[in-house]
Amino acid sequence: MQEISLQVILSAVFGLDQGQRFDQLRKILTSLLDSVGSPLSSMLLFFPSLQKDWGPLSPWGRFLRLKQQIDQLLIAEIQSRRKQVDPNRDDILSLLLAARDEAGEPMTDEELRDELLTLLFAGHETTASALAWALYWVDYLPEVQDKLLSELKALPDNADPSAIARLPYLNAVCCETLRIYPIAINPFPRVTKAPMEIMGYQFEPGTVLLPSIYLTHQREDIYPEPKRFKPERFLERQFSPYEYLPFGGSNRRCIGLAFAQFEMKLVLATILAHCELKLVSNRPIKPTRRGLTVAPPGNMQMVVTQRRQQKTPVMV
Ligand code: HEM
Repeated sequence: MQEISLQVILSAVFGLDQGQRFDQLRKILTSLLDSVGSPLSSMLLFFPSLQKDWGPLSPWGRFLRLKQQIDQLLIAEIQSRRKQVDPNRDDILSLLLAARDEAGEPMTDEELRDELLTLLFAGHETTASALAWALYWVDYLPEVQDKLLSELKALPDNADPSAIARLPYLNAVCCETLRIYPIAINPFPRVTKAPMEIMGYQFEPGTVLLPSIYLTHQREDIYPEPKRFKPERFLERQFSPYEYLPFGGSNRRCIGLAFAQFEMKLVLATILAHCELKLVSNRPIKPTRRGLTVAPPGNMQMVVTQRRQQKTPVMV
């Protein structure tokens, strides 16, 4: 799933993404995420006191060196793209290169690099974990799989991507996947600027507030039987942004929300239309810490048991 989502985000950000520079970028980006991916090494991200560069073999030293290599690759790409501006391109880097601030100034190489790295970093592992969970639930609950397959079968030949994205049950499966085990347990912290009251609690200016996405999604009064995977809840009612917030909220809500939802649906529909996947073990799987996110454990394995001849959909 990581390979798929990396490919997707690289094409969205850079348009064409072939060649040696991109092969290196793919490899190093994956190593960077892996270097803080285990439950233990994830602690590096949360405790600044552990962030000590004791050489290339120390965990933080390795992280910094990988980050430096990515920086160099990104700067090299930015500089080569500045030299050959193509007004017809609509990838994110082209749009950022063309952007001007209020004073008519373009972004510097460093600003562009930081934006690109944020998108690559935030935009691929999250979606990959969400997809892995979706495949897990679809296999773990055969009735969910049956309903999803019949919805996909009813699509016309060569259905276009937006028709797939509008499928109600597929949407419900993706929503429930992100409800039951949100990839981000909480959004970024907020700091109150003025005195504030929330449900009878008083908060002084400067208070750090950290809403819990996970606990909100587990509230029995909003989601009866919260531990059960039930896509139907999303067919039966609409949840407010205060009840359902896998992408955070307010003006700092995830910038990739629409992109991620669209990608999840298309990838899931494509995989299910073409292959039957089975979990290697029948034991229920528990989420584990992976960097800043929470994901299926690395030992969750699925195998392709059959190729399907389904006529629909989509992109392969
Ligand atoms: C299933 C996939 C994803 C999930 C669950 C997810 C979740 C989140 C969450 C919870 C936040 C914090 C929002 C807040 O503090 O209110 C966030 C922020 C962000 N996400 Fe995502 N995200 C996903 C995919 C993506 C993708 C595909 C991209 C890029 C294309 C992306 C880019 C970002 C960025 C740039 C921010 C920071 C926004 C800001 O601070 O203004 N995310 N995401």
